[in-house]
Amino acid sequence: MTTDLTGTRVLITGGANGLGLREAQTMSARGASVILADIDERAGTEAAEALRAAGGSALFVLLDVTDDASWVAALETVAQELGGIDALVNNAGIEISDLLIDLDPVGARRVLDVNVIGTALGIKHGFRSLKERGGVIVNTASVAATIAFPGIGIYSASKSAVERLTKVAAAESGRLGYGVRVNTVAPGLVPNAMGGQLAVDMERLGLFESTDAAVGAVVSLTPSGRLATEDDIAAGVAFLVSEDAAFINGVTLSIDGAMGM
Ligand SMILES: NC(=O)c1ccc[n+]([C@@H]2O[C@H](COP(=O)([O-])OP(=O)(O)OC[C@H]3O[C@@H](n4cnc5c(N)ncnc54)[C@H](O)[C@@H]3O)[C@@H](O)[C@H]2O)c1
Repeated sequence: MTTDLTGTRVLITGGANGLGLREAQTMSARGASVILADIDERAGTEAAEALRAAGGSALFVLLDVTDDASWVAALETVAQELGGIDALVNNAGIEISDLLIDLDPVGARRVLDVNVIGTALGIKHGFRSLKERGGVIVNTASVAATIAFPGIGIYSASKSAVERLTKVAAAESGRLGYGVRVNTVAPGLVPNAMGGQLAVDMERLGLFESTDAAVGAVVSLTPSGRLATEDDIAAGVAFLVSEDAAFINGVTLSIDGAMGM
């Protein structure tokens, strides 16, 4: 059984690559019109073209999630092209591994800017776009929000912040009658570009003797006994966007094989 998203207009930040693109592909296959919003114009344009060639409805818009004016411009373009959105997936995020004893404040501020301020601006503009008719926002945390894995202190802090932002957003939406559900997905480690780099960084930082040992440590901490896949995460996001999740609000959906329990 899959969730039907026919006619649902979903904007996915960071939709040009990785998890965001897989989420767009999954929701497009279930009938959604997807808007890929990203700073990576070339990959986003190509991905939207590929989705249209496969029979879907897809649009790329340039968006830097850290920039308030960029949100306004992107959503104006979407309003002109599609009349608006029904759902927003705040997926864009970056990860920079560092030992806290060596913390680089420039990199740390960048992580917080994209992951926390970018998500908060997404909630702001998502609310403004959605509150007339109601809708859905799905934010993206990580298993790192709830576990203490070495080398990812600032990233983990940023994802804990996303979880808390989600709950305050759900409370404000309810209190002020926006009719917008706000939830978070918390993926486990996915061996894509970001997840693979994280494992490489664990060796570079001297935390594990090899990349394989770092991956092995994650798997051994995971009761389900494997890493996550992009499809695992995309299916959870599609569910939260759909009407099947109509009374699910303010929660973190862990998609991590119980690593973070
Ligand atoms: N890969 C994993 O193992 C993993 C695990 C848990 C959570 N996550 C989270 O999932 C999300 C997606 O991760 P991913 O693995 O697809 O990473 P990725 O690096 O493959 O893709 C991230 C996308 O975000 C875009 N992006 C970066 N900065 C942006 C900005 N300022 N504005 C707009 N777009 C921007 C990039 O261009 C890229 O397309 C992130 O929030 C990440 O923290 C990933």
